[in-house]
Amino acid sequence: MELGTTLTRFLVEQQRKYKGATGDFTGLIADIATAAKVISREVNQAGLIDILGYQGVENVQGESVQKLDRFANELFIKVLSHTGHLIGIVSEEMEDILQIPKSAPKGKYVFLMDPLDGSSNIDVNISIGSIFSIYRRISEGDRATDEDFLQPGRNQVCAGYVIYGSSTMLVYTTGHGVHGFTLDPGIGEFLLSHEGIKIPSRGKIYSINEAYDALWDDAVCRYVSQAKQEKKTARYVGSLVADFHRNLMKGGIFLYPKDKSHLEGKLRLLYEAAPLAYIVEQADGAASTGTTRLLDVVPEKLHQRTPLIIGSLEDVRQAETFFKS
Ligand code: AHG
Ligand code: MN
Ligand code: MN
Repeated sequence: MELGTTLTRFLVEQQRKYKGATGDFTGLIADIATAAKVISREVNQAGLIDILGYQGVENVQGESVQKLDRFANELFIKVLSHTGHLIGIVSEEMEDILQIPKSAPKGKYVFLMDPLDGSSNIDVNISIGSIFSIYRRISEGDRATDEDFLQPGRNQVCAGYVIYGSSTMLVYTTGHGVHGFTLDPGIGEFLLSHEGIKIPSRGKIYSINEAYDALWDDAVCRYVSQAKQEKKTARYVGSLVADFHRNLMKGGIFLYPKDKSHLEGKLRLLYEAAPLAYIVEQADGAASTGTTRLLDVVPEKLHQRTPLIIGSLEDVRQAETFFKS
């Protein structure tokens, strides 16, 4: 029986291939994979072990938090805060920076996450995900500061996501292409299934929440009617990771523009948009705010939102012409 390439083996081989690689990511990604396996197990058991249901509290974005969001948030923190690679962690689920505890060794990276993306889909058996991003810290001293996190997306040194779907997949980039691993639940290992992912330069799919069409700007209305004229087809899950992953594999465009009720857009720049933008560019696609390359946006605050247009290169470039005119 052919076992295939495990994530660990792939990471070690990558480390050998790129001179100057310190092995930091080998450790970090292996730890992220461990957290992903535990979350995957919980997601699969969610219907069985009463982890579902609202906790009756709101996160810093003013949205209701479900139990699994908090579970995933705490698990990532537990797994990652003692690795010695990090100095601080921020999350969609926490208002402020989490400093690596005094008792733990400190590292030169900061970690950013949306621990559970697509939470409205948890209890209806639809794909959800986790998104993460890593930057080299800028500050010195024994505490992480805002400036470590408020870096433009182009400074990322690693980004990835896990999709808990019909199978669980981990997809990541460290700036040397995008690689995907599928969890074999029988042996508990992520196996290399998609090496060097490239997004088709044009796709047939457009993904946008059309329920907001009355709130859209003229540019969005004109682009979407253009997409229809081109006989594109609509797909919208409502879990960004799932919508993004499908478009990455098949080609397509995802839009969450600003509108009259989402004045800055809905998605979070640091936890959702920037990591996926880094991945899509590494896969030869593009990501934009409509007028600016997403990876060039300099964040002003941790929980900043942004409009997002992301996917196949030619589709995103075409959409931009509507926003720029
Ligand atoms: P989260 O579950 O992390 O709060 O993210 C939900 C996001 C994202 O996954 C999705 O693309 C978007 O919300 C859907 O929003 P609408 O329901 O407004 O379309
Ligand atoms: Mn999210
Ligand atoms: Mn979330």
